[in-house]
Amino acid sequence: MAIEKTLSIIKPDAVERNLQESFIQRFKKEGFKILAKKEALLTKEEAQDFYIEHKGKVFYESLVNYMTSGPVVLMVLERENAILKNREVMGATNPKDAAPGTLRKEYAVSLEKNSVHGSDSPASAAREVEFFFPELVKCC
Ligand code: CMP
Repeated sequence: MAIEKTLSIIKPDAVERNLQESFIQRFKKEGFKILAKKEALLTKEEAQDFYIEHKGKVFYESLVNYMTSGPVVLMVLERENAILKNREVMGATNPKDAAPGTLRKEYAVSLEKNSVHGSDSPASAAREVEFFFPELVKCC
């Protein structure tokens, strides 16, 4: 299986509860390398752009407000089959549907405040890693 990179965001509800180390330890235990990590307070423009695929949906404005309501931790994770594996470790988007032992089952507050984001496909991983870590994307 191919080595992949994926973007992970520890969202404001989790950072507010100081859960970043628990999340990072879990990713490491699952075999991910943390290739890059930074804390950031997203601007409205960044959040709007990042979630552009959801523009026009009923939850878009609220999502943008939430994602800019406090600091987030942005990370590039790497391992074999990273995109799918990360989604397994996170669990379903809605914590009500998340499997036992997943991060969202354990920590998420609601569908919106679901504690963690992960890229959902190779195309979105490429876009999202470049969005926050352009320096990691090889040129030429
Ligand atoms: P995320 O994986 O970051 O992708 C889009 C986010 O929108 C999602 O997690 C949730 O935080 C948020 N969201 C809020 N309402 C919905 C909804 N009805 N369906 C999907 N995502 C939602």
